[in-house]
Amino acid sequence: MDTIECIRTRKSIRGFKPQPVLKDILNEILETAVWSPSYKNSQPWEVIILSGGKKEELSKMLVGLYEKGTPPCPDIPEPKVWPEAESARIADLYRSRAEASGINFDDPEVLKKAKIANFRFYRAPHAIYLFQDASLTPWSLFDLGLFAQSLMLSAHAKGIGTVPQAFATDYAQDIKRFLNIPETKRLVLGISIGYPDPDSPVNTFRTNRVDISEIVKWIE
Ligand SMILES: Cc1cc2nc3c(=O)[nH]c(=O)nc-3n(C[C@H](O)[C@H](O)[C@H](O)COP(=O)(O)O)c2cc1C
Repeated sequence: MDTIECIRTRKSIRGFKPQPVLKDILNEILETAVWSPSYKNSQPWEVIILSGGKKEELSKMLVGLYEKGTPPCPDIPEPKVWPEAESARIADLYRSRAEASGINFDDPEVLKKAKIANFRFYRAPHAIYLFQDASLTPWSLFDLGLFAQSLMLSAHAKGIGTVPQAFATDYAQDIKRFLNIPETKRLVLGISIGYPDPDSPVNTFRTNRVDISEIVKWIE
């Protein structure tokens, strides 16, 4: 698969086969992702990969916190208000997902199920957490975003699916305590990773993109 095809065909995968990915393959994906650019080559990324019983234990803890009604407290807060253009694109995502699946995303029970599916890492065999030192500025957050994309593209090139998950960071303090990560670290993103389940209906959905004329201005 060439680079252009890899970027254009990657999509979020939310249904996985239980079969784990070999450690050598996960290593290769990470060894590729570290070639992402970063501000002054500072490489502000730290990675945890959870599998097996430990992943199940963490999921149980997250579902438990959610079901108790614990308010989410991610290190990077969810935006309260979105600007108009972004807000319209989010509405379009919910509308097209609802059309494709027949599921009403305004229903609180549907939202609850979706949250729990996130905390279960969509039953992927592995969960990745990305951290960096909390003293770093938004430039380093930007760098970690590049790292995350490289990781997801490297996985996709090997037929392995991923989904980036802000929701998986909802209980950041508890997650850090569970993983023995100091509070001085910023938990940025969770990523579920594993082989896509081709029979999972959720994987048939494809998101749209706005036309580039909406985002690009040519100045000559
Ligand atoms: C920073 C970030 C956070 C995200 N958080 C979640 C999440 O918590 N749960 C989820 O199912 N998808 C999450 N997504 C996936 C987006 O919904 C998805 O990337 C977007 O709808 C575009 O679809 P695509 O990835 O299939 O191209 C997140 C994506 C990004 C980049």
